[in-house]
Amino acid sequence: MPGLIDSLFGILAGVHWLSLGVVLFLAVPALAIVWNVVKQLPFLRDANRPPVVFHILPFIGSTVSYGMDPYKFFFAMREKYGDVFTFVLLGRRVTVALGTKGNNMIMGGKLSQVNAEEAYTNLTTPVFGEDVVFDVPNHVLMEQKRFVKFGLTTENFRAYVGMIEEEVEMFLNTDSSFSAYNASDNDVWGSFDAYHSMAQLTILTASRTLQGKEVRSQMKKSFAQMYEDLDGGFTPLNMIAPNIPLPNNLRRNKARKAMTDFYLNILRQRREKPSEETDYDMLAALKDQRYKDGRPVSDKEIAHMMIALLMAGQHTSSATVSWCLLHIAHRQDIQQALYEEQVEHFSNGDGSLRSPTYEELKGLPILDSIIRETLRLHPPLHSLMRKVVSDMPVPYSLGNASEDRTLVIPKGNYVLAAPCISQVDPGIWRKPLEWDPSRWTEAGSLAAQLYRDYTETGEKVDYGFGMISKGTDSPYQPFGSGRHRCIGEQFAYVQLETILAMLVRKLELKIDHVPPHNYTTMIISPQKPRNIEFRRRQVSL
Ligand code: HEM
Ligand SMILES: *[C@@H]1O[C@H](CO)[C@@H](O)[C@H](O)[C@H]1NC(C)=O
Ligand SMILES: *[C@@H]1O[C@H](CO)[C@@H](O)[C@H](O)[C@H]1NC(C)=O
Ligand SMILES: *[C@@H]1O[C@H](CO)[C@@H](O)[C@H](O)[C@H]1NC(C)=O
Repeated sequence: MPGLIDSLFGILAGVHWLSLGVVLFLAVPALAIVWNVVKQLPFLRDANRPPVVFHILPFIGSTVSYGMDPYKFFFAMREKYGDVFTFVLLGRRVTVALGTKGNNMIMGGKLSQVNAEEAYTNLTTPVFGEDVVFDVPNHVLMEQKRFVKFGLTTENFRAYVGMIEEEVEMFLNTDSSFSAYNASDNDVWGSFDAYHSMAQLTILTASRTLQGKEVRSQMKKSFAQMYEDLDGGFTPLNMIAPNIPLPNNLRRNKARKAMTDFYLNILRQRREKPSEETDYDMLAALKDQRYKDGRPVSDKEIAHMMIALLMAGQHTSSATVSWCLLHIAHRQDIQQALYEEQVEHFSNGDGSLRSPTYEELKGLPILDSIIRETLRLHPPLHSLMRKVVSDMPVPYSLGNASEDRTLVIPKGNYVLAAPCISQVDPGIWRKPLEWDPSRWTEAGSLAAQLYRDYTETGEKVDYGFGMISKGTDSPYQPFGSGRHRCIGEQFAYVQLETILAMLVRKLELKIDHVPPHNYTTMIISPQKPRNIEFRRRQVSL
């Protein structure tokens, strides 16, 4: 009998502990959620901090709505909280500052306040390798940008136009998506996936030009796989936890080592057997550079810079060229105007067109404005981030609070600039969501003025990689601004202009509508379906 009672108690006690476990298991997260909500109540929030976007789940916060559609998220939050607000992104507190003042505050932020390395290194360092870009202090990055600029010269760009022209021709003749281009009956329509095909073409042209002949010759072989595996290492999760041994991360690590060795080998071979002909590529430019303290750039640093440049230029350029094609495929009138511009400048008089020079391509208003307008509506990078390293006061006028006080973004937060929003601000642009290249060419237009300020006439400053336009308060800054401003802008333009010019010479394109943005690809890419129909251009003599 006592035994029975004992075991009854035993069972009850067990039930008791079990249920306490269940209660705790449910209660702790529930309490965390309740506490998370309670501390957001207006009378509990710190009035000197930017408003926090209301969210139920701690850690997750607004990750999903931001990640699915950052434009929609930013516009909705601006409506609710004003230009400056904080949201929770995978456990980080991210303060967004919209508008030109927001752009200026973040992109022009002092080094003592904002830091790019800490925001980006988790994502980039495992892919690029050590000792470059965001794995080094800012002053070293500024020197590395200076080295890269030695490879981005007018002389090199002149050499690139012809190379890119050849690559486009070869691509159309050999790629299976373009077999209709080749058909002897030249009135056959085919179709290609705009983003997929342009990614392939872009890596061919970039490797042929910047990366050099050794990379180009391995493009259809070992290099392509290494590139794919490395690229798979760019995932949002890696921003907060870069080293989880997931299959994609393991492949990334292996590919990165192989890629480093690949460039090291090229450097060794070039030293042993110097080539007779000039190399117009980046390796040639980087191999003789020295830091200001006299230290030569190491081969490993060169290899890692080459990887960084490959990655920085690939998706940005290929997304842009595919958006350009999608738009001209949709707007027959503008496609026709673009083609006629080519005929006007390059006609041989017998129905054929001669090759353009670098200088000639640069001065073509329709071609140029198509690229500018596409980068306004579809800037590949929608969010530029920094970590706040010391408390950062927000100029009062930025907040929407009517109270007379200064907001402070605390150390430890991240700040996020979104020039993509000022690029479609209805207070600045006429019909902001319409793709209309002519806004850039109209005499005396605001857009034309903004562009000149962003590239030529605005304030100039030298951060250590040569004099550049500061551009931090520009509403239009697809290439960023300030000390982290893109150094690939001119190269990107050479590549985009040449590819577009060659494609419009050879193809007629059509599509019913331009697809919406896909934001899950890290950069803004076109959603599927995104097939463009094409046929070989019908030339009437
Ligand atoms: C259409 C093409 C491109 C676009 C739209 C673009 C855009 C940008 C933007 C917005 C930034 C600033 C990031 C920030 O402030 O957080 C940036 C930085 C950078 N870009 Fe580009 N880029 C393009 C092509 C290229 C190419 C072709 C290269 C190399 C040849 C390149 C190399 C770089 C580098 C090295 C940086 C980092 C600079 C730094 O943090 O100091 N980009 N780019
Ligand atoms: C296209 O035509 C060229 C020349 O006639 C030929 O060498 C090539 O194999 C063809 N390519 C395709 C993809 O049909
Ligand atoms: C970067 O990754 C480390 C783990 O390796 C993590 O502790 C850190 O918080 C991450 N940084 C950011 C900015 O999320
Ligand atoms: C968006 O991109 C992701 C990642 O590449 C892809 O899995 C998804 O199918 C794309 N969505 C659409 C609608 O294209």
